[in-house]
Amino acid sequence: MFDWLTSLPRPNGIVEIACHDDFDRFTQAYLQVRQQEGRLYNDELLRQLPHPPPSHPLAPEWRARAESAHRLIQHLKQQTTATATLRVLEIGCGNGWLTHQITAALTSSAVIGLDINRPELEQAAHIFKPAPNLAFVFGEAKHLAAHAPAYFDIIILASAVQYFANLPAQVRLWQNLLRPNGQIHILDSPFYTKKTLPKAKLASRQYYQRLGVPELAQHYHAHDITSWLQFQPRLMYDPSALKNRLLRRLGLGAFSPFQWWCLHV
Ligand SMILES: C[S@@+](CC[C@H](N)C(=O)[O-])C[C@H]1O[C@@H](n2cnc3c(N)ncnc32)[C@H](O)[C@@H]1O
Repeated sequence: MFDWLTSLPRPNGIVEIACHDDFDRFTQAYLQVRQQEGRLYNDELLRQLPHPPPSHPLAPEWRARAESAHRLIQHLKQQTTATATLRVLEIGCGNGWLTHQITAALTSSAVIGLDINRPELEQAAHIFKPAPNLAFVFGEAKHLAAHAPAYFDIIILASAVQYFANLPAQVRLWQNLLRPNGQIHILDSPFYTKKTLPKAKLASRQYYQRLGVPELAQHYHAHDITSWLQFQPRLMYDPSALKNRLLRRLGLGAFSPFQWWCLHV
């Protein structure tokens, strides 16, 4: 699998489709923030994700993430057949925990984790060993387009869509990476309405300012839901549905506050 990747350089187990230092400024600011948020994990903890110890300060967030990953993986399992290999691309895979979960659950599939943040990608490749059906790739979707147009069945953005400006242009680019009947999944990220958008933008600017990394605000994009709804995605999980509100109130599930969307291409 991934024959088209074999000719590309592969330092530290990461396939390079973009040049080395294009993304250094973003990565430096991004990792500074993640460090302060306690979201950079050591190798031992990364191996346990999405189930950190219950005493971990971010355990409640991971409970929600584990649940939404489970929902997604169940859905992907339903898409696989005994004969067909599902080609999956996770854009913005970070430390690769979800890429790994998908590869482990869908053993007959081929999965690529793509990111522009080298330290976390290197950790992903170190912990979740690349294999014939698993690759970690350094670069952006637009770089992949040159190598693998109309190649993937599934594209996933988990807690990542907010790092992409101009969502409609990105969606068109992602669509071009998909085979017919492909799907784009967006999960674990907020969308805003015209009314709530200005407040969200202000809040993120103030947040990064407070953390002493104001430049990250330029890379963090609160999205207006209408820019996504124009593609007519399907809502797969709605935290505000009555059943989910009840489950959450009873502490029984539906912990994720974020919608899960699937766009069929
Ligand atoms: C909050 S993390 C999410 C990581 C992982 N998907 C998860 O669920 O934990 C967002 C990731 O998007 C990556 N990212 C930001 N801009 C990107 C781009 N243009 N192309 C690929 N990845 C990008 C960041 O480097 C970061 O690793």
